[in-house]
Amino acid sequence: MTELQLLETKHPDKAARAHFDELVGIDSQKEQLVEELHALLDPGLVTAWVKKHHPGGLALADKMAHRSPLVLLEGDVGCGKTALACAVGTPLAERMRERVTVLETPSNIRGTGLVGEVSARISAAFTQAKSRIGTGHGLLIIDEGDDLGTQRAQMQAHHEDRAGLNVLIKQIDLRQRAQTRLAVVLITSRADDLDAALMRRASLRLRFERPDKHARRQVFERLLEGISSTKRQVDELVELSDKRETPFSYSDLVVRVAGAAFRRALRENRPMSVEFLMDAVRHTAPSPLLAGASG
Ligand SMILES: Nc1ncnc2c1ncn2[C@@H]1O[C@H](COP(=O)(O)OP(=O)(O)O)[C@@H](O)[C@H]1O
Ligand SMILES: [Mg+2]
Repeated sequence: MTELQLLETKHPDKAARAHFDELVGIDSQKEQLVEELHALLDPGLVTAWVKKHHPGGLALADKMAHRSPLVLLEGDVGCGKTALACAVGTPLAERMRERVTVLETPSNIRGTGLVGEVSARISAAFTQAKSRIGTGHGLLIIDEGDDLGTQRAQMQAHHEDRAGLNVLIKQIDLRQRAQTRLAVVLITSRADDLDAALMRRASLRLRFERPDKHARRQVFERLLEGISSTKRQVDELVELSDKRETPFSYSDLVVRVAGAAFRRALRENRPMSVEFLMDAVRHTAPSPLLAGASG
């Protein structure tokens, strides 16, 4: 029943680098994530800095050195959380000048609901991650962590989930003490429901939101690479895509809008154009916001 296969990727990797670079509008999240994971996975970084700038020691640095290796990516769907987590291994490996192994839990991390199953599967994920990473550096990505991390108080009726959450917290605490070079990236679209004990442990929380005007411009400029367009046309696209009640998500624009324009160009056997994109923006409805998600 603990049959569980983590998906493994090795970094640096060319394709992951390209995927990382393709993500626009979230430069701050990208930068903060790489920086934090570097500090979490390489204690030597902090030690060297303390030695240089605070040779007498620094209480704050000691505290920082003992924080939990847990980063939360939270926010609405289609904003690049999964894509970023899966690609970040490469810029991280480049910065650390080390190889980084990234392991993702399967989407059915909770299993089928048998007694003790969630707990066993979470333990198995950590055991497997540790053994695959060995003496190297690694990330364990727990995607769609919503179910797992939901407030324990809300789950009185679900003893299995509660047990699973307790195991997750325990495993994260073990990581902190073991100083194993393994950091956990937990992705959720329902941060408001996350368990307080779990949230408290996060050394960094990054919030993802649907693109504003500025970010939409970056998306369109990227989509229009290799296609002739004027600044005025891009302005128009940015304006057209300003759907007031429900904004477009990144994936609405990059996958659905661009996909519709592309299929049309193919169907009509004509070159891709700004007009096709404009038309697709007009005819595509933004995906609904997650009920209960504040972003
Ligand atoms: N910030 C972004 N920039 C460019 N493309 C994006 C961005 N966010 C999402 N996408 C596109 O949408 C797809 C789905 O995004 P995903 O990472 O699954 O979102 P989330 O995990 O936040 O729901 C990505 O694979 C990518 O093609
Ligand atoms: Mg996702």
